[in-house]
Amino acid sequence: MSKDKVQIFDTTLRDGEQVPGCKLDTKQKLVIAERLELLGVDVIEAGFPISSPGDFNSVQEIAKIIKNVTVCGLTRAVRKDIEVAAEALKYAKRPRIHTGIGTSESHIKFKFNSNKDAIIERAIEAVSYAKTFVEDVEFYAEDAGRTDNEFLARVCEAAIKAGATVLNIPDTTGYCLPEEYGAKIKYLRENVKGIDKAILSCHCHNDLGLATANSIAGVINGARQIECTINGIGERAGNTALEEVVMILRQHPRLNLDTNINSKLLNDTSRMVSQKMGMIVQPNKAIVGANAFAHSSGIHQDGVIKNRETYEIIDPADVGVDESSIVLTARSGRAALAYRAKNVGYELTKLQLDVVYDEFLKYADQKKEILDEDIHRIIESSPVKIES
Ligand code: KIV
Ligand code: ZN
Repeated sequence: MSKDKVQIFDTTLRDGEQVPGCKLDTKQKLVIAERLELLGVDVIEAGFPISSPGDFNSVQEIAKIIKNVTVCGLTRAVRKDIEVAAEALKYAKRPRIHTGIGTSESHIKFKFNSNKDAIIERAIEAVSYAKTFVEDVEFYAEDAGRTDNEFLARVCEAAIKAGATVLNIPDTTGYCLPEEYGAKIKYLRENVKGIDKAILSCHCHNDLGLATANSIAGVINGARQIECTINGIGERAGNTALEEVVMILRQHPRLNLDTNINSKLLNDTSRMVSQKMGMIVQPNKAIVGANAFAHSSGIHQDGVIKNRETYEIIDPADVGVDESSIVLTARSGRAALAYRAKNVGYELTKLQLDVVYDEFLKYADQKKEILDEDIHRIIESSPVKIES
């Protein structure tokens, strides 16, 4: 049975680039956009055109060169924003305007000093106006995570009637629990008239470390687009990490969901974005962190050397990592030492291994990690004669 497709909407160049210190120039954005197209994303959110002349220019240049992917520009529910976004997107083969407004109590009261009916009017106005420029209009209900479901459903219904093709349900503050976010999507699917005319989209922030879990709960409950960034970069604690949702869907076939992403490019793309944005990836980051396929404790190493499935749920080659690594530390066992010694040219007998292992532990207690040159040194200075 063929799997249902979840669209990947990449916002590395918009929500990701909002991070302090991550600003990119147009040339850097073009390189990343081309890589995202190659990676197989469905939508590239290229920027927020009204925010600065530089961002306008970047969106326009990306729109000119990206031909196989929808190129999207963000706006507020403001006519001028929409006009500027339409102008920036005019060369795009598949343009999308992403417009919207805050819908939670606190946004309505503190940001807009307004009321629910007036917010719905602005939503309708924005979508209808965007529709005069492009066919594909995505509407976001900012802070939907903290918006009561009944009102959210009213806003979504109005946006669909006005012509929205995608409804973005952002958990802007990263507040929701997965079951709550999933239930919100389910509620909208069951209570919004005309919902079949639009795709529901998950846009989750990571303030409580739940962005990925919430996005997955969203698609399990019927959303068919996930908004995410490479390495999970984004406002505050970041956005849903693209590489995580892609691999979760791939590693859990029973969900019967997949994306168009070429996962073999994930590791390289992660490095490229990290390097261009000057934002290091934490070593223990899922999928793309330096330690994601590194085994360092003796028990795990012994298992992986016997069969990698004992401690690995992903084949590293599937995400573009050559192979998993056996890192030697003072927590490593004999199996790992023998394995690494063999890799650098020494076939140790059991007796030799016993002797070298004792030396290795003394050495390893002084160092964070034992490298290949250390293995040579330990073996060459061992009291037993070992041929390489
Ligand atoms: O987090 C959010 O609500 C957003 C919207 C502007 C889509 O980024
Ligand atoms: Zn966001």
